[in-house]
Amino acid sequence: MNSGEQPPKLSSEVAPPIAVDLFSGAGGFSEGLAQAGIRTVLAQELHPQPALTHVFNHPEAIGLVGDIRQLRPELISHLIQKHHGCSTIDLVVGGPPCQGFSTAGKKDKNDPRNTLFDNYCDIIAHLRPRALVLENVPGFKKMYGGKMYQAALSRLSDLGYVVSDRVLNAVEYGVPQRRKRFVLVGVRSDVGMDFVWPEATHSNPEARCEADLFLEPRKGFVSVEDAISDLAFLGPGMEAHRHQSPIGTPFQAERRHADLLFNHLATQHRQKAVETFKLIGEGETINSVPSGAKSAKKTMARLNRRHISNTVLALPDDLIHYHHDRIPTVREMARLQSFDDEYVFIGKRTSGFMDRKHDVPQYTQVGNAVPPLMAREIGKALVRMLGRPTRDLRNLEERRRRLSWVHGSSGYSGYTLSKAAERGLVLYDVTGSTIELPIDETPTQVQERPGMEDWRGSRHEMPKKQWAPGVSLEGSIASKRARRSPTIPDMDEKLTQSTQGS
Ligand SMILES: C[S@@+](CC[C@H](N)C(=O)[O-])C[C@H]1O[C@@H](n2cnc3c(N)ncnc32)[C@H](O)[C@@H]1O
Repeated sequence: MNSGEQPPKLSSEVAPPIAVDLFSGAGGFSEGLAQAGIRTVLAQELHPQPALTHVFNHPEAIGLVGDIRQLRPELISHLIQKHHGCSTIDLVVGGPPCQGFSTAGKKDKNDPRNTLFDNYCDIIAHLRPRALVLENVPGFKKMYGGKMYQAALSRLSDLGYVVSDRVLNAVEYGVPQRRKRFVLVGVRSDVGMDFVWPEATHSNPEARCEADLFLEPRKGFVSVEDAISDLAFLGPGMEAHRHQSPIGTPFQAERRHADLLFNHLATQHRQKAVETFKLIGEGETINSVPSGAKSAKKTMARLNRRHISNTVLALPDDLIHYHHDRIPTVREMARLQSFDDEYVFIGKRTSGFMDRKHDVPQYTQVGNAVPPLMAREIGKALVRMLGRPTRDLRNLEERRRRLSWVHGSSGYSGYTLSKAAERGLVLYDVTGSTIELPIDETPTQVQERPGMEDWRGSRHEMPKKQWAPGVSLEGSIASKRARRSPTIPDMDEKLTQSTQGS
């Protein structure tokens, strides 16, 4: 080696891959990627509520809030350069929302959300990441007679990506839930590597056959009880801020890092609903209720503690706790999605019918997420392909410090944040202006509250600077701007300057 030459980097010094998360929601995908060794530096999301959850839990990410159709891809590279000093992106992940594609929803070819895939591709064309991941509903491939899928393949191939896809089942990656997702991975052709799909890590012990003896030993599926039995102490109408029961299973041990609990508030239902719940036995559905006693609800099931969970959806009221006559808490749902307990969901807890168009409350943030444990296995496979070490990159120390910023109750309108959050959380809107945070300076830190209390008494004490009561899609983000930073015309100037300077 010449004296001036740098010694080759040890693998631990190799910089981790850098990712951008589009349609990021509350950050389930980014969470799994971080556990696999991928650093998400920017999360783009329509709604400020999940975007805030994302940046709160991912200290290294900045949030870019608003409609992706109004976003110029240059703003992404400008902000990444400004905050992280990097100009190369290794990975773009994201799933354009599935309502337009879903086999469950209305199949509307004119649904404007179907064009979101084009915006996704425009960003790929601008950032030119080495790899991309597109996730969607399992029915994506067959939608509109396969035309949607074919269009995706041809557009990504035109952009120079070699793609492969699978439908993955979260339960096979240690998630205690039946949940299938379509996942497409694209690798830029000049990278010259094949993506190797992750092997299942978990399987059904009762369904193992002789051939399985030749495979890597797998763990058994994680049941509902394995996942949430230590949280099952909470009766209807109560909220807890601290764990009350000892850790019972390895899954619980992995989710619990501290004594504190967030988003654990049990709904107090109307008497009529409780009477219906009582008629549904463990593992049974509303079909077992005699027709005279049925509510208007068509789908409802009580969890079976010994089985994996039914799919966790964006609306919580289809599932009943296996032991209590109530729906699971946000925290119990988050466990069923494999989020750790320190992952705090900010924003309104749930949303009334009229507000659903413009709210993304905690339950929806959880139900929309890609389960972190499934994302982790996809992430590990990507990291291996890119030749970097797979290691947990989460900054848990900083996350723990941030827990003291969380104020109030997770009930009704959700938490607010202390003034200290202003120094740590960065959210921009799609014009490049910063967004004001829901700061409440009343010192009611969650940590200072008693272990368990009846939250009903404080139900109407809504903090003044609350962010939760809905954010309409048009315009209202603008009213939340605090400090002006470059708008699009200024951006043009900045981009020109930075191009001239290089
Ligand atoms: C399925 S969720 C994403 C979940 C996320 N990947 C996770 O793991 O937590 C889809 C997200 O796309 C967002 N979205 C919908 N339309 C959008 C748009 N026009 N621009 C940006 N984001 C949008 C929704 O608000 C929602 O949070």
